[in-house]
Amino acid sequence: MPLRPEDPLVDGNVTRDHYDRLAATYDENWAHSPEFVEWMTGCIRQRLQITGDALVADIGCGTGLFTRELARHAAAVVCAEPSAAMLAQVPADEQLIPVAARAEDLAAGRVVLPHDGYDAVLLKEVLHHVADRAAVITGLARLLRPGGRMLVVMLPTQISYPLFGAALRLFADQQPDPADVADQMRGAGLQAELAYESFPLVFPTERYLQLVRNRYMSLLSHFDDAQLDAGVAEIRRAHQGEQIAFTDTFAFVLGTAA
Ligand SMILES: C[S@@+](CC[C@H](N)C(=O)[O-])C[C@H]1O[C@@H](n2cnc3c(N)ncnc32)[C@H](O)[C@@H]1O
Repeated sequence: MPLRPEDPLVDGNVTRDHYDRLAATYDENWAHSPEFVEWMTGCIRQRLQITGDALVADIGCGTGLFTRELARHAAAVVCAEPSAAMLAQVPADEQLIPVAARAEDLAAGRVVLPHDGYDAVLLKEVLHHVADRAAVITGLARLLRPGGRMLVVMLPTQISYPLFGAALRLFADQQPDPADVADQMRGAGLQAELAYESFPLVFPTERYLQLVRNRYMSLLSHFDDAQLDAGVAEIRRAHQGEQIAFTDTFAFVLGTAA
């Protein structure tokens, strides 16, 4: 089922409210696993081939959790983000340049970024919030310098997260297909390739349940408190041990400009 503009995950206000609420705890969600953050940052850096003089634009950067390390290897990272509360968590650092903007506004040129062009454009776990993904990819591809790279990091169409059934079904209904994103990059004139990589995660069960209660995925903002309580009870019944282990797999869609 394709996302429509009226769906909560692509409704700018609903999404902004969700991330405004999540902002204060977003980094904590991953604080238990610096290894995951390091692994993910490495995957991104290697694909974007970021070197000392690179100009990077991280679109939908959130708190900048995954881009802070990139900035240490680049000339500057522009951190574009529509949620003021998320953007406020981006550390004050002269190499991180915060910009309040949606991907759609940047793609359409309604908001202009501070440099003429970028060597790397990153969209990590953002595109599922965008209704017209082809238009956004085409517009953002215009920001790339010759030889520049665009990387979309996203979940695959199927996940093995230990969520409750209704959440997993909703995810399967809504998640865009990375293969379509690769096609959209090709349509924007980029050479595109798609790869998947996985990281094993282990959480104390109570910790994972708390993340679900905190609606750590925007998907969970579709469920009211009673539905979430029932979902947490369902997860608890399925995972009675002290730990929950699962594999987190990500799609990396890399587009390169001629
Ligand atoms: C799952 S978070 C990912 C944040 C960050 N990229 C990361 O990986 O930590 C999704 C982010 O996309 C932002 N977002 C939502 N809709 C957006 C849009 N239309 N354009 C740009 N960013 C958007 C949200 O505010 C949120 O910060």
